[in-house]
Amino acid sequence: MDEREKKYLLKKEVNTFGNDLGVINLENVKEGSVIESHNGHKFYLLEPTLYDIVKKMKRSVTTLLPKDIGIILTYCGIEDGETVVEAGTGSGALTIYLANAVGKNGKVITYEKRPEFAKLARKNLESVGLIKKGQKIIGLDEEDEDTEDKENKENNKENIEKNLKEEESGLYNVIQKIGDITEGIEEKNIDLIVLDMPDPWNVVEHAKNSLNRAKGRIAIYVPYMEQAKKSVEALKKHGFLEVQTVECLVRNIEITEKGVRPSTRMIGHTGYIICARVRPE
Ligand SMILES: C[S@@+](CC[C@H](N)C(=O)[O-])C[C@H]1O[C@@H](n2cnc3c(N)ncnc32)[C@H](O)[C@@H]1O
Repeated sequence: MDEREKKYLLKKEVNTFGNDLGVINLENVKEGSVIESHNGHKFYLLEPTLYDIVKKMKRSVTTLLPKDIGIILTYCGIEDGETVVEAGTGSGALTIYLANAVGKNGKVITYEKRPEFAKLARKNLESVGLIKKGQKIIGLDEEDEDTEDKENKENNKENIEKNLKEEESGLYNVIQKIGDITEGIEEKNIDLIVLDMPDPWNVVEHAKNSLNRAKGRIAIYVPYMEQAKKSVEALKKHGFLEVQTVECLVRNIEITEKGVRPSTRMIGHTGYIICARVRPE
């Protein structure tokens, strides 16, 4: 972060960095230090938070915003050790927060029907230690693998020692799958199913059969009211309990010398979130 609080996400191995405030040398500098540029400006070397990383990562599709992710995580009461099924993976933003919430003892199985999206998400998930370099995406044909990914997989064997070291710092609790989730969910005894895809009502019956009866919950995110209505109707038809639909609006508050007031700009709408739990049988 420079002294104007402008942030840049750098790889650990980067040794020098420069912008209009000058050039800094990052060799042998630890996170948490102040560095002065060649022309006297201050820079702060910080460890990025997950929020910083997700904000800067590459995207194939629009990702869920933190405000909506927050609602999903909290309303569903997601916990350490739980098993989650998600669709679609998209760019992997929601996957990252789900995987961090369930931790090392939990697991996220994420379905994506478009191989090119799953491959980009793999890079994002790798960069935050949720999958190992070269980890196979279940259902991805060998010919769909990029040369770079193939090389990663081959190097994998030679890099066992390096991977073991990395393993200590990552959660490695995400499994990626290529597949159309409306055709079925293979996994059983799932604690939570999260759907961010256009036709979630076509998944509700499969979800009911895959969720564990004691604690199984579902969360659905859709941008249109018509989609929300169809989803709620499907959940009710399949006997889900505590069906609740919410929308989350966030207003930034500007606190200045002049006074305190909400910002004149805000995000008007993103989507509706529907949460429910499965009925015991
Ligand atoms: C809006 S994006 C998800 C964004 C994601 N939540 C994130 O935060 O990055 C929707 C994704 O669902 C995928 N999708 C749509 N229908 C699907 C299906 N039936 N099965 C699996 N994935 C599906 C799309 O290809 C797309 O990548």
